[in-house]
Amino acid sequence: MNSTNPANIKIEIVKDKEEGAKVALQLIRKAVNEGATVFGLATGSTPEMLYKELRASDIDFSDKIAINLDEYIGLDVGHPQSYKTFMQKQLFDKKPFKETHIPHGLAPEETEINRYNDILEKYPIDVQILGIGTNAHIGFNEPGTSFSTKTHKVELTKETIEANKRNFDSEKEVPEFAYSMGIASIMAAKKIILMAYGKRKAEAVAKAVNGPVVEDVPASILQRHPDVVIIVDEEAASQL
Ligand code: GLP
Repeated sequence: MNSTNPANIKIEIVKDKEEGAKVALQLIRKAVNEGATVFGLATGSTPEMLYKELRASDIDFSDKIAINLDEYIGLDVGHPQSYKTFMQKQLFDKKPFKETHIPHGLAPEETEINRYNDILEKYPIDVQILGIGTNAHIGFNEPGTSFSTKTHKVELTKETIEANKRNFDSEKEVPEFAYSMGIASIMAAKKIILMAYGKRKAEAVAKAVNGPVVEDVPASILQRHPDVVIIVDEEAASQL
């Protein structure tokens, strides 16, 4: 733990993703026991181990709501790389929720943004799970995104396309746009759990935790949230 960390950010340094997932699971279990009903969920490789733990756990989500951060624009829900497909496989098919929400990648912009903001207004998020991009994006809120954004259409940066191309057959197939909950939507969650693993996330984590709070580093806004837990392995914590 670094003494300059903002007091609201609790850093948990873990051995690996497996241990990180167990720490996150316990935080989720505690929140459920305390009455949490709405869970903001993330995609990417980072939360996969947590979803494995959740699938195997005895926590009952059948009366709970899941709201995902983002979705690629242009991918049908059934596309193998859509975040909808990812979530079904990783969690929802095995661990039913009362309702699950993910932006529709083929819906027209204005309708979809309004629909998603209405969902977020109806169901305030109790616990938000986050990963972090190598450029410190959260959700798909790329550097420069206003801290006041709600759901919006995002043009993905080259860096994000490059980082995410491993899931597609080629870089050309990675969508260039996405719908994402905004920074203000994320900050409205009561509790935030961000996980980051590996050396390639070290700089983003350090800037988010110890750097200035600036829109060029989207995750730095977490310094202004009252209840954040950041779970990192040694490599991701190496620049803290
Ligand atoms: C994508 C997602 C983010 C995720 C990030 C990191 O851009 N929209 O929510 O945090 O990737 O992905 P990974 O966990 O695979 O490193």
